[in-house]
Amino acid sequence: MISRLGSYHGGTLMTAGLGGSKTLHDSFALPMEDHLLVSQPDFFNNGLPGETEAAFCDRLIAELEQVILDAGPEEVGAFIAEPLSFSAGLVIPPQDYFARVQAVLKQHDILFIDDEVITGYGRTGRMFGAETLGFQPDILCSAKAMSGAYFPISATIIDGDIYRDMEDHSDMQGMFAHAGTFAGHPVGAAVAVEMLNIVEETDLPGQVAAKAPYFARRANALSGHPLVADVRTIGLAGAIQLKSEGAGAMAAGALAGAAKLLATVAQDHGLIIRVTGPTAMLAPPLIISEAEIDQMFDTFKVALDAVAEQVNAPG
Ligand SMILES: Cc1ncc(COP(=O)(O)O)c(C=O)c1O
Repeated sequence: MISRLGSYHGGTLMTAGLGGSKTLHDSFALPMEDHLLVSQPDFFNNGLPGETEAAFCDRLIAELEQVILDAGPEEVGAFIAEPLSFSAGLVIPPQDYFARVQAVLKQHDILFIDDEVITGYGRTGRMFGAETLGFQPDILCSAKAMSGAYFPISATIIDGDIYRDMEDHSDMQGMFAHAGTFAGHPVGAAVAVEMLNIVEETDLPGQVAAKAPYFARRANALSGHPLVADVRTIGLAGAIQLKSEGAGAMAAGALAGAAKLLATVAQDHGLIIRVTGPTAMLAPPLIISEAEIDQMFDTFKVALDAVAEQVNAPG
């Protein structure tokens, strides 16, 4: 299995190994020896000095090919990725990154597993992130918004050949051989079906696409702020990366913990944001109105200004 550093795919032995949490890896002797990790397509943070985004993408594709060749293509079963990695700070890949990844995987007959647990059902302005980011997965993992998060349910959507293989082996066992204790829970299924009806009837992905430019405009307006190093948005997902040591005009050390502080101050003002490293992320409900987008960014700015004052304070 190949995955990308900094990604998050879950907390089981297998998925924690495929994710990029150093804490989980160190605590549980991960990744397992047959897990291979490649770089995150994060040009802002991982691009080399003087490197263009196109050259950066070339380098990542070459890295993926090399990892496959080193392992032996027949030894590699699948590649797993989220269309946008929130755990890595909302990484938005170069435009042709996923199409090129897909071409390499196809060439070596390696499956593409698409982790849409966060991006599924409209977040990016299309039903699935794969459509927005331009690839066709063999296996798609889905949860969270599948029930509007009102009921715990997840699903794995599997392409014909792989499904048939599972079915054949289930026939050998005399029953579907991939059950879990709560698999196929009828309440979860009913909630998910209703949620999917609402998504389709209200064209929720289309609504997101319509609101995305306004969301982006409000986010990008923060880019001149003395604390802000980078702003990234796609659909109704946004990241505001704060300057950190070595990445801005602020004195070294002054910004350690600024993003965490921002999350606390924002929450005091009624806004919940997710923070990873120096990056604050916004993923509002997909039904958010323009007035609420204003309220969200106005509150974010109040918190940002308060944190800027604190980290600038003498001593
Ligand atoms: C992108 C992504 N993949 C996978 C998972 C894991 O899902 P679960 O906790 O249901 O195993 C999560 C959970 O937060 C996630 O955000």
